[in-house]
Amino acid sequence: MCGIVAYTGKLNAQDVILNGLSKLEYRGYDSAGISVISNGEIKSLKRQGKIKILEEALEKNPLKSHIGIGHVRWATHGVPNETNAHPQISMNGKFSLVHNGIIENYLELKNMLEAEGYVFKSQTDTEVIPMLIEKFYEGDLLKAVEKTIGLIRGAYAFAVLSSDEENRLIAVKHSSPLVGGVFEDGIILASDVTSVISHSKKIIYFEEDDIIDVNNGDYTIYNKGKIIDRPFKETKMSLEEASKENYPHFLLKEIHEQGKVLQEGLSIRIKNNKIDLGEGAFSSSDLKKFKKIYAVACGTAYHACLAIKYAMEKLLRLPVTCEVASEFKYEDYFVDENSLVLVVSQSGETADTISAIRKAKDLGATTLSITNVLGSTISRITDRVMYCYCGPEISVASTKAYTSQIIAGYLLAIDMALKLDKISDDEVQKYIEEIKKIPAKIDEILKDEEDYKKIADEIKLAKSIFYTGRGLDFVTAKEGALKLKEISYIHAEAFQAGELKHGPLALIEKDTPVISIATQNHTMEKTASNNEELMARGAKVYALGFKENNLLKASSLEFIGIPKTIDLFAPILAVVPLQVIAYYTSALLGNDVDKPRNLAKSVTVE
Ligand code: F6R
Repeated sequence: MCGIVAYTGKLNAQDVILNGLSKLEYRGYDSAGISVISNGEIKSLKRQGKIKILEEALEKNPLKSHIGIGHVRWATHGVPNETNAHPQISMNGKFSLVHNGIIENYLELKNMLEAEGYVFKSQTDTEVIPMLIEKFYEGDLLKAVEKTIGLIRGAYAFAVLSSDEENRLIAVKHSSPLVGGVFEDGIILASDVTSVISHSKKIIYFEEDDIIDVNNGDYTIYNKGKIIDRPFKETKMSLEEASKENYPHFLLKEIHEQGKVLQEGLSIRIKNNKIDLGEGAFSSSDLKKFKKIYAVACGTAYHACLAIKYAMEKLLRLPVTCEVASEFKYEDYFVDENSLVLVVSQSGETADTISAIRKAKDLGATTLSITNVLGSTISRITDRVMYCYCGPEISVASTKAYTSQIIAGYLLAIDMALKLDKISDDEVQKYIEEIKKIPAKIDEILKDEEDYKKIADEIKLAKSIFYTGRGLDFVTAKEGALKLKEISYIHAEAFQAGELKHGPLALIEKDTPVISIATQNHTMEKTASNNEELMARGAKVYALGFKENNLLKASSLEFIGIPKTIDLFAPILAVVPLQVIAYYTSALLGNDVDKPRNLAKSVTVE
């Protein structure tokens, strides 16, 4: 996730900024850069890779100044390289800017600026901001910034310098975080308190649409044209606590981030109520070629494939074969030049998935990846790529990547179906309307966190826990079971609800916990009967379904109600309580939640 730091004061800006950036490292990044004003000019240095590399370059070419801005970048628009790294500089070289967030209407602004003769160097959305500031600048940076933010749409926190105003820096906060600290040696602004607390424990938390004008060692905060005051709040957080934003573990933070990151991802993928898949989009003639579709991945990403298969088969009326990547390489599938092989991978570096892609390519298939890491091996070796845009996932157990993978795959399915005339524009609009409501519904689900914690407390000492469901609910059951087993170390297994009586029912003893997922209307009654069968054999059934489902309430010990959505989208919501239950089970058992035993975040061996 991108992070910004800005400083002006008595200390050497380069040192304060590098230190501030190093405290943002935990957020994940792929490049870093810094700008200062020195002798009336903007001087910058950017490097791809770790902050260490930037630091070494700065040792050779130090940038001495009392004022500067810095950035760590997690690529969203444009691959990770020096040109796309921030700071982004305006065409005349006089304005340097660092940005955290996404400018949704950047293309439209870029086209407008290019028509006026502005020449862009990077592939970033950010570059439009310094260009607009240059366009509007008439000797007052604040006025130029105000005009600029009147045009840009999206989420942003940015800080900007102008070489014409050597003692001034301006920052703006709109839907992306920004905090500040004022201390004896200067003023520091940053994306996150981690960069501020080594200088000051008194933090200003800027609010929506604050503009901070730091001028000659003093600062003024404007909001909607008025000067306002923001209080300092004393923080007792340690650096470690601050990087988790007050959550005890990254996993819980990432579960809670889902609403926000899915919302951001949707704002990139849906423009003016139309799906825009960027580099992932196929034309209708490309699509007509595909006679077979394969979806290949490992672990949680494989479960995302299972959900995507449902969406594709429903919307495209084409069979989709899902396979785990470690099998795909060795087995003899019917892959050929008329096949589309879709691979899903959070890290983009999973060795099994990479081997599967190589095999698919050898067989002449077209490959498309859904991945979260720009510039990763998988993004480079597949023919097309769609990014998840969910920000770095630090906890080993995957949560926000899963929900964002399903959304990406669903949007792909809808786009393909429309281009192949399998669904109408009106149907697409209905899906878009519904998918846009998903982030808020996730936030609503998370309000019931205490109820899920109670369930975790009830199940934490169980020997085995079973998850059941049919169809798409079985996909959620599999993901719920994987989440629980990997972080709680309790044996957890998913069964198709209808299969129980063909064997697994023998495992049910008195008080065996069973989490039964039933969101799909066409199988609801059957699953409710299966729940009765389970309870008759002593199982403690926790039923998960849409709110106000009296049938499920009656056929379970406890009911977990989630907001209603269309059946196809249910897995994106239904998994959230299961993530929270897994989290609390692990935490209550005192496990190392973020780094479960024997597992690694990126599995680079086969
Ligand atoms: C489970 C988990 C793993 C990964 C799997 C694939 O929580 O994190 O099952 O989903 O190792 O990893 P990626 O998506 O990076 O290819």
